[in-house]
Amino acid sequence: MDGKFLDNDIEKVVDADRAHVWHHLIQHAPWTGDNPTADPRIIVEGKGMRVWDQAGKELLDAVSGGVWTVNVGYGRERIANAVRDQLIKLPYFAGSAGSIPGALFSEKLISKMPGMSRVYFTNSGSEANEKAFKMVRQIAHKRFGGKKYKILYRERDYHGTTIGCLSAGGQDERNAQYGPFAPGFVRVPHCLEYRAQWDLSGEEYGVAAANAIEQVILAEGPETVGALCLEPVTAGGGVITPPEGYWPRVQEICRKYDILLHIDEVVCGVGRTGTEWFGYQHYGVEPDFVTMAKGVASGYAAIACCVTNERVFDMFRDDGADPMGYFRDISTFGGCTAGPAAALENIAIIEEEGLLENTTRMGDYMLDQLRALADRHEAIGDVRGKGLFLGVELVADRASKEPASEKMVAAVVGDCMAQGVVIGMTNRSIPGLNNTLCYSPALIATKDDIDQIVQATDKALTKVFG
Ligand SMILES: Cc1ncc(COP(=O)(O)O)c(C=O)c1O
Repeated sequence: MDGKFLDNDIEKVVDADRAHVWHHLIQHAPWTGDNPTADPRIIVEGKGMRVWDQAGKELLDAVSGGVWTVNVGYGRERIANAVRDQLIKLPYFAGSAGSIPGALFSEKLISKMPGMSRVYFTNSGSEANEKAFKMVRQIAHKRFGGKKYKILYRERDYHGTTIGCLSAGGQDERNAQYGPFAPGFVRVPHCLEYRAQWDLSGEEYGVAAANAIEQVILAEGPETVGALCLEPVTAGGGVITPPEGYWPRVQEICRKYDILLHIDEVVCGVGRTGTEWFGYQHYGVEPDFVTMAKGVASGYAAIACCVTNERVFDMFRDDGADPMGYFRDISTFGGCTAGPAAALENIAIIEEEGLLENTTRMGDYMLDQLRALADRHEAIGDVRGKGLFLGVELVADRASKEPASEKMVAAVVGDCMAQGVVIGMTNRSIPGLNNTLCYSPALIATKDDIDQIVQATDKALTKVFG
């Protein structure tokens, strides 16, 4: 760290934060009130895979900015320069008009997404998902007399923080106390084989989990179901990779009942799962909507997209004479040009540095290393993931699969932090099942980085579970 913030009286910054900032996702009691026992954490600077806090402590970031976002790592001057140049040329104009980076990034993005054709710009993953939900509802009105309006979502998936997205939220602890929710969202079962709902395994399990979706469709009435929204690999709900056979059957079911398929790539998108640009591309899926955010510009600018195929787009322009017939929606900050300018550089970095390949190589290595830990730690019940997107489910008892307590899982995360490695965990997500350690290092991670992350986990598990 270059010390410039320390010279700038970091104490004042900490005091200002303590007094006025409402942090996300966290209880403030420890550092507010009359007798604070801790300081708020301020992250001051980052370079590559590492960040430094207000005390100058170096941290290896195994979660890409806490929530799987900074995919190309910190300190990328070429992204900052591209954003600076674009802001001077034109920072903003409403999305009813186009922009140079908007058009060029859309072309580039679509070149990575065969079968898709249109990019709708927004500024958060939640908002991108809301756009898809609104399109589904409007299609129901335009085509099906308002009847085909229901949106299916899956237990354990998360699609964002707005009331609309929480209505499609499969994580009961995350939703608790925020209802009532919007009507017309219907839950389908999760597909995590480790927490099996059917006495089957492998491909048979995958097909059964997909068939469970069909049963919900039949119970609701296929003529009422407009879309199915799924994460390709569930993120905050426990890093759940789909079982064999799941996706082909899901696609078949959607086609059978004329249900639009919406894939939420907010976490998996733009390289996180390795080899392919998007998670769904590993499974041969042909979606109607793909939403993305976090890794699109690696957090260097706020940008999210709702991408559709031409079939969906056509439904909003085939009645040009109808003043209500087009998608009557705006995202003010979807018109910010910094987002696509940063996103263009982000994709260029991934291509030039071969980061899709690195993600696969390092992801496979990390999966092997974490699985090897299971030989030494009875507390490891399951290790899963794809690319640099991995989860370790901790248990109190391996045979019964009784989940480890949230307190003990948090103690592992805390011990890693004390060792200078930031890892994550499922958090206020599934009641009784907030027991999965989460890893999503930047796509630039090296073998040494992975070794450091795995060694910290090893030590922490020994300390907490013995
Ligand atoms: C799968 C998924 N979808 C949507 C979102 C919401 O994105 P945002 O926080 O940008 O609104 C998240 C956020 O973590 C996510 O994990």
